[in-house]
Amino acid sequence: MSKRVLSGIQPTSDSFHLGNYLGAVKQWVALQADHDAFYCIVDLHALTVETDPKLMRQRTLASAAQLLALGLTPDKCTLFVQSQVPQHNQLGWIMECLAGFGEASRMTQFKDKSQKSGADRTVVGLFTYPMLQAADILLYQAHYVPVGEDQRQHIELTRDLAGRFNNRYGQTFQVPDAYIMKEGAKIQDLQEPSAKMSKSSGSGAGVIELMDAPEINIKKIKSAVTDTGREVKFDEKEKAGISNLLTIHSQLSGTLISDLEQRFEGKGYGDFKGEVAEVVVDYFAPIRKRALELLEDESALLKLLAEGAEKARAVASETISQTYKNLGLVQ
Ligand code: TYM
Repeated sequence: MSKRVLSGIQPTSDSFHLGNYLGAVKQWVALQADHDAFYCIVDLHALTVETDPKLMRQRTLASAAQLLALGLTPDKCTLFVQSQVPQHNQLGWIMECLAGFGEASRMTQFKDKSQKSGADRTVVGLFTYPMLQAADILLYQAHYVPVGEDQRQHIELTRDLAGRFNNRYGQTFQVPDAYIMKEGAKIQDLQEPSAKMSKSSGSGAGVIELMDAPEINIKKIKSAVTDTGREVKFDEKEKAGISNLLTIHSQLSGTLISDLEQRFEGKGYGDFKGEVAEVVVDYFAPIRKRALELLEDESALLKLLAEGAEKARAVASETISQTYKNLGLVQ
């Protein structure tokens, strides 16, 4: 039987960004070919920041449309919305009762985000978020979890929790492996190449949104922050901005970074940025068009997601039954 894959993405923005695609979704598309793949729009996770109900609905549908336009196909994978599968909350609680307070306190994403907004504006759900994420993964007995570098710690925690449960209560969960690429797993902000590209970044000037008009993205790439040198060379320490652009080009065009370095020898940063802009825009133009078309037929999207949720519930409810049984909960 083919190995199981699970991953998730938050519907927190009108558009995914280039980091989401290169770090995660590109691998989702590749893995669906020869794996039993489950992909989840994690709307419950998105509730950890204050949300507008109208936007939540719109962004959940926009997420589904983008994932399909980027290459997920319902006959090869199961695409669903987290809140339509209540077993996620059921297992989430069990994971919370398994995780230590200290262990959860060490999650760097929680520390960063809670520090930014301050204790009074940080909800408890942000603290328990990684345990819900562990439940997302373990419910499906996933072997692999394709994610970007920033999720590594959460997958480590998931592995620890799975192992702990199995030791205490008998074999119940597959212990999953993070599936993180060597290149593309950490795409940096174009304006601040020392920080990762992120939906929550300040101005958004360094974030390439896949659903933005080409002119906007061309402008953002042409004004990407680089260094004072002239050489198009991969060197993450000294040339973080150029290295990031090389990675982006290489990942989308399929050209080796060393070949790009050679091709741009003796040419300025301007020429190089111009070509990166062209590669990005050409790659995403048809995807954007397709996503907008898909969004026009809301009922088709809803139907597809309902079918996905049904398939997901079938798997998830089996895991919950076994988990409850192993815990001695009377059913
Ligand atoms: P989220 O929604 O922030 O991001 C979705 C995916 O995009 C990756 N990513 C990046 N990769 C490379 N460079 C970047 N700059 C970049 N920014 C984001 C993320 O690593 C992620 O793979 N907690 C998760 C969602 C989640 C999940 C899960 C993931 C919930 N349950 C179960 C896997 C399995 C998150 O907030 O991703």
